[in-house]
Amino acid sequence: MSRFQVGYFVGSISSGSINRQLAQALIALAPERLAFCEIPIVDLPLYRRDYDDDYPAAGRALKDAIAAVDAVLFVTPEYNRSIPGALKNAIDWASRPRGTNSFAHKPSAVIGASTGRLGTAFAQQSLRSVLSFCNSPQMNAPEAYITVTPGLIEDDGRVTVESTEAFLRMFMEEFDAFIERVLTVLPPRA
Ligand code: FNR
Repeated sequence: MSRFQVGYFVGSISSGSINRQLAQALIALAPERLAFCEIPIVDLPLYRRDYDDDYPAAGRALKDAIAAVDAVLFVTPEYNRSIPGALKNAIDWASRPRGTNSFAHKPSAVIGASTGRLGTAFAQQSLRSVLSFCNSPQMNAPEAYITVTPGLIEDDGRVTVESTEAFLRMFMEEFDAFIERVLTVLPPRA
């Protein structure tokens, strides 16, 4: 059975992040043929155009990490009705230098956890707009806006509410099928 490598971004760099917990839950519930690695964003300096002529190691490592996976998964909080600056900074790094956008043709999915009732809906719309510009084929449905209440997801990623667990499992099954569809018509570039 073929196996897809998924690189996941956690949009929060906070300790005790509920989005990191959600990422752990998604990994645990995903179909077995998906393998995961985190694409870290915490050590990236703020992007500036001056770097484009001689991309620093941190930027190259980020781009290499994205090139090495079949698809990317964004698990992000909402900050002030948009995505956290740390995540946007990472996307900006990966999109450059001009002509080497790492997200082009790379299948993606977006999900997020919030303590608020809207469950990162605005952040996800904002992220989708960015990913559209970056030419990433995105899974449109199911949408997943997760409101986290205390105890919903344990530290080890175990989901304590059965309906939420079933939904997250279905989300990852859909993502697996989406990756396969995209890669069938858009084989990865050599
Ligand atoms: C938030 N939070 C938040 N929640 C939300 O639903 N919509 C929002 O616009 C915001 N804005 C916001 C801005 C800033 C600067 C912070 C620090 C927080 C609350 C947010 O959902 C909550 O802190 C989550 O726990 C953040 O996710 P992580 O870091 O725990 O993964």
